[in-house]
Amino acid sequence: MRDRVLNLKPMLCFFTLVVLVCMLSWVFFIGSLSLEKYYSNITILCRKVSSDNYNLVEGMKKLEVPNQAILKVFMYDLPAEFHFGLLGWKPDSSSKSVWPDVSVVDKIPGYAGGLNLQHSIEYWLTLDLLSSVLGDRTSSSIATRVDDSREADIIFVPFFSSLSFNRFSKNGTDKILQDKLVAFLIVQKEWKRSSGHDHIIMAHHPNSMMYARVKLWPCIFVLADFGRYPPRVANVDKDVIAPYKHIIERSMNGTSTFHDRKTLLYFKGAIYRKDGGFVRQELFYLLKNEKDVHFSFGSGDETGVQNASKGMRSSKFCLNIAGDTPSSNRLFDSIASNCVPVIISDDIELPFEDVIDYSEFCIFIRTSDALRKDFIVNITRAVNEERWSQMSSRLKEVENFFEFQHPSKKGDAIQMIWQAIARKVPSVRFKLHRTHRFSRYKHEFTKPADLDQHQLHN
Ligand SMILES: *[C@@H]1O[C@H](CO)[C@@H](O)[C@H](O)[C@H]1NC(C)=O
Ligand SMILES: *[C@@H]1O[C@H](CO)[C@@H](O)[C@H](O)[C@H]1NC(C)=O
Ligand SMILES: *[C@@H]1O[C@H](CO)[C@@H](O)[C@H](O)[C@H]1NC(C)=O
Ligand SMILES: *[C@@H]1O[C@H](CO)[C@@H](O)[C@H](O)[C@H]1NC(C)=O
Repeated sequence: MRDRVLNLKPMLCFFTLVVLVCMLSWVFFIGSLSLEKYYSNITILCRKVSSDNYNLVEGMKKLEVPNQAILKVFMYDLPAEFHFGLLGWKPDSSSKSVWPDVSVVDKIPGYAGGLNLQHSIEYWLTLDLLSSVLGDRTSSSIATRVDDSREADIIFVPFFSSLSFNRFSKNGTDKILQDKLVAFLIVQKEWKRSSGHDHIIMAHHPNSMMYARVKLWPCIFVLADFGRYPPRVANVDKDVIAPYKHIIERSMNGTSTFHDRKTLLYFKGAIYRKDGGFVRQELFYLLKNEKDVHFSFGSGDETGVQNASKGMRSSKFCLNIAGDTPSSNRLFDSIASNCVPVIISDDIELPFEDVIDYSEFCIFIRTSDALRKDFIVNITRAVNEERWSQMSSRLKEVENFFEFQHPSKKGDAIQMIWQAIARKVPSVRFKLHRTHRFSRYKHEFTKPADLDQHQLHN
């Protein structure tokens, strides 16, 4: 009896195999007939909106920027008081447009100077959209402004919220503008259509949109980090992290090598900080006696910036320590100075991290480790010339992703932000389609008369 069972086993296996092969080939045959078209459509869709366009070059991901518009954007014509009006610009009384003429680059109103510039993404993105329809720009724009909101992938809200906070919060104007904006948005047909899910709101200064943010939570925020946001209002799945505009001029000094940079580690910034900033003080006491470490407390004023830019350019590593908020423009100053960033900020969010691997050109240290004696110094001293030069040249490759300029150029910060927004479009569509499930049932299939009768019966 036992033998017979054993003999049957190979036959059973063979039989199962044959059945499986038959079934599989049948499935593939049917699949190739009907699904081929379907799949190729999906592939095209993905290629259009996702960031599938990298090549693997020598083990590192090379980012390829698409050559044509991938994002259709509808922009509200908000009154000038929300954008260029905050810069002192007034619409021409003879023209009905709320926008300055952007066809002559030299005549475009400039943004506010000094530290305001850190959060100027609102200005660059708005300018880029305004000029996306000019004849000579259409070919190189990632985002194109469209007039019909039904054609648009996303809806852009051109409020210069960071400038509004920086310049007009003291006398309450900033709050008034935020209240006005909310009142305006929630009655727009575009907002009602999507409950705001497809709206882009820029709030790069951590204190900007303080009052309006919780009311506008469904939208996509463009932020510096999530430090002051509850996770429901802003999070990494829904929102976009944009770089600060660096304050230190980009280092055009290509010759600054490992040995040229005499300082091992550089930090300059404010010492007493709220929240995560206590770390700065602790690190100061740990590092102040190391001979090739520069650790000082200084301000962001004109001479401070010049001094810091000299310091960063002559250092191998630049410390980025959490301050009031997890992020700061210092990271982008380091990148512009080709000084390898050492990041000590456990909650930092980094721009475009879905396409950039920061570990290729930054050193991340957990706060708990950084506070151990000699830990930072040991780690940075252990980096030899070869490894440092690798990181430095990788820094040069990514540098352009953090450059703001107008007109925008291929692969700069503006185009990178548009692409990051474009990568959110599929998930926005997903949300919208889900909200449509029952909306048609309510609006199209139920006649108002039926509803009335129903109400009468109750
Ligand atoms: C607030 O201050 C700004 C400039 O300091 C000024 O232009 C604006 O009119 C002021 N607004 C109010 C309501 O006082
Ligand atoms: C460029 O690098 C050289 C060599 O390290 C240095 O002497 C010079 O001061 C640098 N120039 C600037 C503008 O940083
Ligand atoms: C620049 O830094 C050096 C050394 O850290 C300091 O001695 C000098 O006073 C600073 N200069 C300015 C203008 O802040
Ligand atoms: C730092 O390096 C020294 C000397 O190599 C070693 O004794 C010490 O344990 C190291 N400290 C840390 C925290 O890694």
